[in-house]
Amino acid sequence: MHVTEQDRRACSVHLSGDGRAVEIIDQTCLPGREVYLTLTELEDLCDAIKRLAVRGAPAIGIFAGYAMYVMSLSESGESPEAFRAGLEEKGRVLSAARPTAVNLSWAVRRMLSVLRAHEDAPVPELRERLLAEAVAIHDEDIQMCTRISEYGLSLVRPGDGILTHCNAGPLATSKYGTAIGPVLLGKERGIDLKVFSDETRPLLQGARLTSYELQKAGVDVTLICDNMASMVMKNGWVQACFVGCDRVAANGDFANKIGTSGVAILAKYYGIPFYTLGPASTIDMSCPTGADIHIEQRDPEEIKTMWYKEPMALPEVKCFNPAFDVTDHSLLTAIVTDRGIVYPPFDVNLKKLFA
Ligand code: MRU
Repeated sequence: MHVTEQDRRACSVHLSGDGRAVEIIDQTCLPGREVYLTLTELEDLCDAIKRLAVRGAPAIGIFAGYAMYVMSLSESGESPEAFRAGLEEKGRVLSAARPTAVNLSWAVRRMLSVLRAHEDAPVPELRERLLAEAVAIHDEDIQMCTRISEYGLSLVRPGDGILTHCNAGPLATSKYGTAIGPVLLGKERGIDLKVFSDETRPLLQGARLTSYELQKAGVDVTLICDNMASMVMKNGWVQACFVGCDRVAANGDFANKIGTSGVAILAKYYGIPFYTLGPASTIDMSCPTGADIHIEQRDPEEIKTMWYKEPMALPEVKCFNPAFDVTDHSLLTAIVTDRGIVYPPFDVNLKKLFA
């Protein structure tokens, strides 16, 4: 698939028109307002990741690629060594902005490896190479999402009900998205699927983003509260669950938005196939199991006050607010990647995927 500049600019993350900044749609303002941010400085780039103005594992990876390039423009070009050291430090800070999604550190490492591979090149050439790498990360994601969508579509039949959690659509990735990809690709081909979108407490990615994207695309989407998933499954309305992933361990355990593992347990109970969809870059073969995935803890105010006119809990009440949970591989029917569909045993078959 040939990717054009128009394809890139249609994504939630892209390079600004003058090529000197990362431009994103601020996902915290959706669905009410479409606000675009133009970012160049390390502090602002990290802030956008931390407060989820840019979010979704693949989108964060694309963002990191462009961020490293944009920061290279203001990095002193006195010597290639100083240039590389400066960018390595900025890359370290950027990678730490959110620990769970592997795509962030993966993209930073990939950008830095360009510098290491061309140690003797002058700084202007290094900048050009960084730009080419960032664009390659973006283009590959567009191609990967398209392939994942094709594989995912092969798993369902016209009219099926799909339950999804959080947001793994175009906003979180590029082009069609991952978990939402089969639905949007199906729509293009006249294959209609019905989607149940969990609202996804506490940050409401399902309500604010997934139901927004799908409604705009003309898909039959029904928004439900997280605690309604069991009922819609029991009613026979769900034929498959499609969710995204932030990091897949070598044994098939995977981290995704908090609440995903609960959906997987329900799906197992009702005998509904449960799939995670993500690019091969989300699979971390250096991470043996889900127990080795670092889970980000977030501000208690996201639970207590953020969406309310008045606080919904006493200020002194303790909160536990992990951003992600780990779904055990035993609950997973298959992992849908851009390289194909991986079935159990995952420890064996993920190795084969990378062989
Ligand atoms: O905290 P978020 O909104 O970044 O969490 C996002 C998810 O958990 C997504 O499902 C995951 O990143 C995959 S996006 C294709």
